[in-house]
Amino acid sequence: MAIERMAVVGAGQMGSGIAQVAAQAGVAVTLIDVSPDVVRSGLSRIQKSIDKLVEKKKLPAGEGAAAMARIRPASRVLDAEGVQFAVEAVTENETLKKRIFVELDAVAAPGAILASNTSSIPITRLAAATKRPDSVIGMHFMNPVPLMALVEIIRGAQTSEATYETTRALAERMGKTTVLGKDFPGFIVNRILIPMLNEACFALQEGLASPEDIDLAMKLGCNHPMGPLQLADFVGLDTCLYIAEVLHQGLGDDKYRPAPLLRQYVDAGWLGRKSGRGFYRYSP
Ligand code: CAA
Repeated sequence: MAIERMAVVGAGQMGSGIAQVAAQAGVAVTLIDVSPDVVRSGLSRIQKSIDKLVEKKKLPAGEGAAAMARIRPASRVLDAEGVQFAVEAVTENETLKKRIFVELDAVAAPGAILASNTSSIPITRLAAATKRPDSVIGMHFMNPVPLMALVEIIRGAQTSEATYETTRALAERMGKTTVLGKDFPGFIVNRILIPMLNEACFALQEGLASPEDIDLAMKLGCNHPMGPLQLADFVGLDTCLYIAEVLHQGLGDDKYRPAPLLRQYVDAGWLGRKSGRGFYRYSP
């Protein structure tokens, strides 16, 4: 099934990025968020990103404008009526995500695929909230979506082969390379990434080195584009903590326990880039 119309629910950083790459791939996108402010800032983030890509000659100006015109803002899940594919990209809250899946299940066309961009909630559990568990799948984009080449696809216990194939084809059409993972805590990327970021927090907590030296060591020593503390700030310290807790509980091994320093920063409201302060300070 070639996807012509899709919906993205959640217009934050990830949702707006997903809407952008889908629109650039020629898909008509309904970008839905209950908050008009979030939709507005999502659209402006997309415009800025497209402008940047055009300026860097990575996207012809005409294609950028055409992509922008393919995105229709909306405020209700009901506005996803008739779409062939929907991606949910709201905050990592299982109750909220399940509610959105129930609503999408009611309005999406029969046979439509319902995907989640969750980084940590079991796909099988989200699928069970719908009457089409075979058509529910994990489609995990990386941040920043327009620049990152990977989409991690996660098959729930009941996801059909056809659902997987359509999702993979759509991700490839968006210019992404896919990997396939099973529905276990953290999937592939976060199972490996979050313990590394968490370990950097332990190292800082123990006074092993300064934040700058921990980051420089991993940037130059391992050729990572960002150091682990810088990346944790970029991902969001609350998100890192949440995923660390999912790994700890879901895998039942204390090696995944979140660093107390990470928890303390989150308690203080130092969430990284988005709050202006994490391991580093950021100007608005
Ligand atoms: N759209 C278009 N252009 C963008 C952009 C966007 N969304 N974001 C940044 N850019 C531009 C920048 O403005 C910059 O342009 P200029 O050169 O004109 O200034 C250019 O892209 C390159 O950016 P930077 O100079 O800031 O630096 P960079 O070359 O290091 O690239 C980066 C930035 C791609 C983010 C790179 O640092 C990187 O790969 N970092 C690691 C990111 C990563 O690991 N992401 C995964 C996080 S984990 C995750 O997402 C999963 C999860 O569930 C937690």
